[in-house]
Amino acid sequence: MSTEHRTTSRIPGFYKMSAAGRLQELSRAANCTLQDVKALMGTEGNGLSLEVADRMVENVVGVFGLPMGVGVNLKINGRDQLVPMVVEEPSVVAGLSHGAKFLRTGRGIETETTEPLMIGQVQVLDVLDMKRAIAALERATPELLEAANRLDPALLAAGGGAKSIETRVLEPMEHDDPLGTMLVVHLLVNVCDAMGANAINTMVEKLAPRIAALTEGRVRLRILSNLADRRLVTARGCVPFELLGKGNALLGREIAHGIEEASVLAERDPYRAATHNKGIMNGIDAFLVATGQDWRAVEAGAHAYAARKGRYTALSRWRVRDDGLRGEITLPMAVGTVGGVLRTHPAVQAAVHNVLKITTASELGCVAAACGLTQNLAALRALATEGIQRGHMGLHARNVAASVGAEGTEIDRLAKELTHEGAYDAAAASAALTRIRSRRRLPAA
Ligand code: MEV
Repeated sequence: MSTEHRTTSRIPGFYKMSAAGRLQELSRAANCTLQDVKALMGTEGNGLSLEVADRMVENVVGVFGLPMGVGVNLKINGRDQLVPMVVEEPSVVAGLSHGAKFLRTGRGIETETTEPLMIGQVQVLDVLDMKRAIAALERATPELLEAANRLDPALLAAGGGAKSIETRVLEPMEHDDPLGTMLVVHLLVNVCDAMGANAINTMVEKLAPRIAALTEGRVRLRILSNLADRRLVTARGCVPFELLGKGNALLGREIAHGIEEASVLAERDPYRAATHNKGIMNGIDAFLVATGQDWRAVEAGAHAYAARKGRYTALSRWRVRDDGLRGEITLPMAVGTVGGVLRTHPAVQAAVHNVLKITTASELGCVAAACGLTQNLAALRALATEGIQRGHMGLHARNVAASVGAEGTEIDRLAKELTHEGAYDAAAASAALTRIRSRRRLPAA
């Protein structure tokens, strides 16, 4: 994040504005011009021309639109941060913006990252003497690293590059496993601000024949691992009880205990952990899509990391402490700010450069983790108190209203009526719309 960026993530009433009004406010809050953020709106509603889309993937027949929202109120490491989010699910953007209000105290959410080390794997089969193979790899490590680094001088010049080699011996796991003991060689590469898949895959493919010769084995797979557990990001936050209880510290403490109970259930039970982590990924994925990241890679890494101890568990944990409710999340974060979609997609460029004002992958990863923690808090606060359905259905009601033909001001009136009645099916909505329209036609008494 550039030092002179003076973004505020506080935009009161943002949710009440028109899309055009929001864009205006966003440019003010992000301290840039309307022109700088205009691409978020999209060309013909998509943010991406057919021409550019056609060069991105194969067999393009069109461009698919999803809502681009902006999460507000987030403060990370003492700095306000607006969060572009692309998501189809109602209440995700609202949830993040709501949760972020609770995590703004002091410097807000604090984050830290490891070095951006990605792992490339080489599978070696039919190794006759495992000890000799591993010793040969250890002796040849400088040679292998040098060969890998010759393939990517730009990465080396940026301070990254292949750093080390590790070996893992995998035994057969089950009685019908058809193979004997195999060797897996890991190449650890500092990928700087790249996501890293291309650099890693090039390196392991090129090193494979030499690895086969050194180990006197036979190489099969050569590919990056999405369990990027050497490229971690941690986000931590604290909510004072009074804030959590919206002015009532006693109530806040009670809610904090409820959130702690919800957290412990997810820590102990994979059935709950899957849903708990899905809620976390709601925030992270929406942010990753808006910023042009390979969100499937981050998803895969997150869930594999959640199961790293042999049992699937929660990615975050929440505890009641003396000063409030404290939450923490750690997960792998394979994201990049160079190359990929960022080079081609105008809305992604506007989101990353003009709204987020982010240049490094580690900053982007920190915002992603902060989004996950915040989204998780919003979900758990609702679940531990009134449940999520009231807020969720309130937002869903607007979609139902539009789907049965409500127009203009009718949409909010009908949504209000559906929420009041607690009925959200199309039949109830059509009946209510008919009632609203007939009431409008009645002459004033
Ligand atoms: C829904 O998309 C996400 C939640 O189910 C997450 C959770 O239960 O923690 C609300």
